[in-house]
Amino acid sequence: MGLFDTHAHYDDPRFAEDLATLAEEMRQPSLHCPMGVETVVNIGCDVPTSRLCLELAEQYPFFYAAVGIHPQDAHTFNEESLPALREMLRHPKAVAIGEVGLDYKYENAPRDVQKAVFREMMALAEETGYPVIIHDRDAHGDCFDIIREFPRVTGIFHSYSASGEMARQLVKRGWYISFSGSVTFKNARGLPEAARQVPLERLLVETDAPYLSPEPFRGKRNRSDYAFMTAAKLAELHGISPEEMVNITRENARRVFRFDEMLQK
Ligand code: NI
Repeated sequence: MGLFDTHAHYDDPRFAEDLATLAEEMRQPSLHCPMGVETVVNIGCDVPTSRLCLELAEQYPFFYAAVGIHPQDAHTFNEESLPALREMLRHPKAVAIGEVGLDYKYENAPRDVQKAVFREMMALAEETGYPVIIHDRDAHGDCFDIIREFPRVTGIFHSYSASGEMARQLVKRGWYISFSGSVTFKNARGLPEAARQVPLERLLVETDAPYLSPEPFRGKRNRSDYAFMTAAKLAELHGISPEEMVNITRENARRVFRFDEMLQK
């Protein structure tokens, strides 16, 4: 009954050496995470990393996987991508399509290519019924326009960085809003205010490990138990206890990833 980290990248080489030990440690209650970690979803960024995330889910009972093409990897999309992703989604531990979206800060792929691949991923979600995990960096308006083209698709805006007003619009359309360590940063600017405007039943926490460690671990390699700090910050903003926030965000995550239906897959 611990913390649910909705977004991590344990396939990252930075975890290659000590993942087994780390996984064991995170599960246990500790000073900085008194409830321990219950569940982690690892997020694919292209076909090979999506596959790695599924392999990790096979190795670690508390790991699940999302599969998809990240906007920074949009140029890797080809005619084999969709069949490969469709096949991976049949895996019993595949819970979402992600991460997908638009990244205008790092334009590895031109914007037109990013948009085309994002639409392919949204169409795949519409076809298969899976929730999507959106990466939106400096592309709030265009992301919002594209999700509006697919009104039957919902999911998670990950490491949320847009306004409170946009968060309210997304919630109205059925989306969940996930906060990373960024919400704890001293220069978080409008982010705490945006978090305050998300109703409790749509809030999620994540690490984006190995990136975006919350205070006081900022700059260190992130790990799922650190997300307790993020939950504590959200709890403070909503006037509840950190433990309550961990419980609420865990139940929200189980709902958005449809854990109850998954047993039948
Ligand atoms: Ni990520």
